[in-house]
Amino acid sequence: MCGIVGYVGGDEALPVLLDGMRKLEYRGYDSAGVAVVADGDIGVVRKAGHLQALVDELGATSLPGSLGIGHTRWATHGAPTDLNAHPHRDCSGKVAVVHNGIIENHDSIRAGLRSQGHKLTSDTDTEVVAHLIESILAAESCSLREAVQGAIEKLEGAFALVCVAAGEPDCIVAARQEAPIIVGAADGMGIVASGIPALLAYTRNVTPLDDRQIAEVRAGSVRIFDFEGREQSVETVMVEWSLDAAEKGGYEDFMLKEIFEQPAALRDTMRERFRSLGKVTLDEVHWSTEELARITKIVVVACGTSYHAGMMAKHSIEHWTRIPVELDLASEFRYRDPVLDEHSLVIGIAQSGETADTLAAIRFARRMGAKVVAVTNVVGSSITRDADAILFTHAGPEIAVAGTKTFLAQLAALNILALYLAQERGSMPPAKIAETIDAMRALPEQVDEVLAAQGEINRAAKRYAGARDFLYIGRGVGMTVAMEGALKLKEISYIHAEGYAAGELKHGAIALVEPGVPVVAILTGVSPLYDKMLANVEEVRARGAETILVAHPGDERARSLANELFEVPITKPLLTPVLDTVTLQLLAYFIAKEKGLSPDKPRNLAKSVTVE
Ligand code: AGP
Repeated sequence: MCGIVGYVGGDEALPVLLDGMRKLEYRGYDSAGVAVVADGDIGVVRKAGHLQALVDELGATSLPGSLGIGHTRWATHGAPTDLNAHPHRDCSGKVAVVHNGIIENHDSIRAGLRSQGHKLTSDTDTEVVAHLIESILAAESCSLREAVQGAIEKLEGAFALVCVAAGEPDCIVAARQEAPIIVGAADGMGIVASGIPALLAYTRNVTPLDDRQIAEVRAGSVRIFDFEGREQSVETVMVEWSLDAAEKGGYEDFMLKEIFEQPAALRDTMRERFRSLGKVTLDEVHWSTEELARITKIVVVACGTSYHAGMMAKHSIEHWTRIPVELDLASEFRYRDPVLDEHSLVIGIAQSGETADTLAAIRFARRMGAKVVAVTNVVGSSITRDADAILFTHAGPEIAVAGTKTFLAQLAALNILALYLAQERGSMPPAKIAETIDAMRALPEQVDEVLAAQGEINRAAKRYAGARDFLYIGRGVGMTVAMEGALKLKEISYIHAEGYAAGELKHGAIALVEPGVPVVAILTGVSPLYDKMLANVEEVRARGAETILVAHPGDERARSLANELFEVPITKPLLTPVLDTVTLQLLAYFIAKEKGLSPDKPRNLAKSVTVE
């Protein structure tokens, strides 16, 4: 949540800040602001609304200076107004701070600062930090970094803070406690950001700060300290994402581009893991076959779309390995007193690698002695430090808030892990593993076939964009698809939608069905349950629902019951979510477009949820 950028170097800071903020706007877009240091002063411009509102406000103002910070906000404390937009300053206007996270004890700090005569002007938790730094700089002769260190001693909560001071016009200070911040330096410049896309144009060697670290970033140099002021070694990771990947590349929206990038995301996620004929190679999983054989249960923890990927994984892991799988929302997991031991394997899934609940869940699991595998798309993200093994998805940067290509890549990674466990534990005949690998390898081309139906799906979207409620129903892995389809529609079109187990419908939700309610039903990959699914479709039709069916080509029974029918190619039943989901992503996208909404920046949401 919140996009943060800082720049120091030989060029004008403002264009670099705005470019980085544009790349990180997906992290928060209710207000934006910049602060540029020059001539012993800090120029600040802030504006409520999307980044464009700030750009309009800046107009011809150039805010000259070669050191600055910028912020796009996702509000936690204080409404999204000009006054609450970051950067926040101290009384003198000589210190400016941007922040992502929540400072839990800001009320008591604020009261203390007020009693000392400080004038705080916003409703945010962040502003106190600027005033704390001001107090320390006034009382002691110290550097900005030392003042930030002193200020954060007083803070409770999670934060990524980036600070500048008029008195130190060559240095940016960044600090991290449980919220991501990355720093980098190249020839003659230093850069700080809350997400990789903002740094890509300048450097690919980046240093994600660890918890309780402070960075001092200057043109061409980075120094790292711990919260006690001891200098640390600077460790860099190499980012392979291409610069173009964070651009729209001719598509109207990032979401549409990312939907169309899914065949590549699948190929890139599978390539190395399927390099040996008929076998799964997972270099990332270092446990011995004996250790893997001792696993007695698997627990999957995740949020939102990643949770739906976990729901799908439960089916394939249990079917292929016969290991029982529990599935938990990460926000619930550690509060329910789960039973875990050293024979438990916990899989934490987070495309961003920064979701606070998922991080807390896997840390808890490790403390309980469980083995932890993380599935993530972001190199250097927090989850990569908290897991025993990391399974990267190779989807490239995902900018649209709604997860699409990262979800498909997660499905691939989780199926790879399931097959690997089956292979190592001998629970699946090698021929079956080889056959499943072949089916997975065919998926990218099959996704292309689904994408080719975009015109038809767009036409149907126009027909249903006026609906108030949608129901999505499925059985088995089809239920996963229904849940994910409903989430996509809700988040970008603001239409109420529920994903439901088709068999459960008549126990309550069928009361919602009335003439005009569209019901999306997943009829693929359910062979033993196909007749039951059709019966459920008949039931909703009998109550006046309009049916949108996802079925395999040539399914005439489905066609006879469909107001709209979308065909997806045949694959193995457990792999059908990969194909079905693409249809429903396009349906949600086109409905949002028909309603004139911006699918990339849905209201109230942020791409990376770094607070609980
Ligand atoms: C996806 O469309 C949503 N924006 C959201 O549910 C997301 O999946 C969730 O916040 C989890 O994110 P993560 O994968 O980064 O943990």
